[in-house]
Amino acid sequence: MTSLVLTITETLRYRGKIGQWAWVLHRVSGMGTLIFLIMHVIDTSWATFYPELYAKAIAAYKTPLFTVGEFVLVACVVYHALNGFRIALFDYRPQWWRRQADAAKLVLLGTLVLLVPVFFVMAGHVVNYYNERVTTFDLGLESVIEATAPFAVGTVVVLGLAFIVSAGMAVVPSLNAPKKRLKGSKMETFMWSFMRISGVLIIPLVFGHLAMMHVIQGVFDLTKVGHVPVFTNLGANVESTLTAVNFVRLRWDTMLAGVYIWRIYDILLLVLVTVHGFNGARYVINDYIHNKLANRALRLAAVGTMIGVLWVGALAILQSVPATTAEMLNQSSQVIGVDADTDALVR
Ligand code: HEM
Ligand code: HEM
Repeated sequence: MTSLVLTITETLRYRGKIGQWAWVLHRVSGMGTLIFLIMHVIDTSWATFYPELYAKAIAAYKTPLFTVGEFVLVACVVYHALNGFRIALFDYRPQWWRRQADAAKLVLLGTLVLLVPVFFVMAGHVVNYYNERVTTFDLGLESVIEATAPFAVGTVVVLGLAFIVSAGMAVVPSLNAPKKRLKGSKMETFMWSFMRISGVLIIPLVFGHLAMMHVIQGVFDLTKVGHVPVFTNLGANVESTLTAVNFVRLRWDTMLAGVYIWRIYDILLLVLVTVHGFNGARYVINDYIHNKLANRALRLAAVGTMIGVLWVGALAILQSVPATTAEMLNQSSQVIGVDADTDALVR
């Protein structure tokens, strides 16, 4: 904690050059996107498990406070992606290291150049929504508190449990023996490469996802009756109290060349961003929290949350596979003599 306070005060005091600010921005944008991701995957899973809750969450997403957050999120993702690409590229090109400062400036310029047209189109969606459908203006503070309160409670519970487990582990001698250095460093080398490779793979996936949800259509179109969800071939959303849930179903049930294209896309995105983001959070924890008990507790909380996010995210996608597909799978597996249990896939 002392290191975190020191980092903040020294960052403000120390008049470092662009490299220092690029590092701070990269860290803040990465952690901010990760916090959004945790809430987003849990929210999205409600489209499968608790449709009414999902409809409520999307209603909160349409409030002005969330709209401001949406612009900040897009800026975070764009800056982090471009700067991450710079880090990955330069790490493999030592001969370019003298040009780091120029590259960091180029990243800032690239972010601005990309954000101007993107924000312009996003603002167009917002203006359309307020012109067409909103009669009274409400900042939405109440909905935002209602939508985020369960996550705040969840964070306290997860942290509490992690501290209890960490304290329990402190009294088990075998868990406190010094670690073999070689094994640890091999894992760290692997994770170092993983961060760079996964980062580069995430760029088209996350930019594609944001382009679909913010540029081609707006977030508000998730609940628009008569709107055909972006890149679906199953028709338009119908009148219902659960239009947001229909939106997700229409997308996830869309097939291209015999495969559920958006389910595959979302699973890939889910796995890559979750593992990348939580490993990044581990670096941040190790940099600032040096107390052994607290460090282990936070790392446990991060691993536990990562597994939870992957689990609910993947289950939401798989459990919403239409029953007819599960029956087809069952029949084909009987033909080839496999006793597959596809019940888990039935919605
Ligand atoms: C869009 C493409 C992305 C690229 C190219 C990218 C690239 C990178 C790179 C190269 C690092 C540095 C790793 C290291 O220090 O060894 C990093 C760190 C990090 N990334 Fe990403 N990333 C991307 C997306 C994301 C997303 C979507 C999240 C959140 C879910 C995220 C969260 C983080 C965090 C928390 C860190 C640690 C920051 C730090 O140590 O200061 N990244 N990223
Ligand atoms: C406010 C901005 C965003 C909106 C409105 C949005 C919207 C959606 C929607 C409607 C889905 C449901 C499936 C689909 O239609 O493809 C979804 C799924 C998903 N989104 Fe986003 N998205 C946003 C930002 C992001 C960002 C920045 C990330 C990555 C860091 C992300 C990662 C995911 C993942 C991993 C899934 C799959 C969730 C699951 O498995 O349950 N989204 N998103």
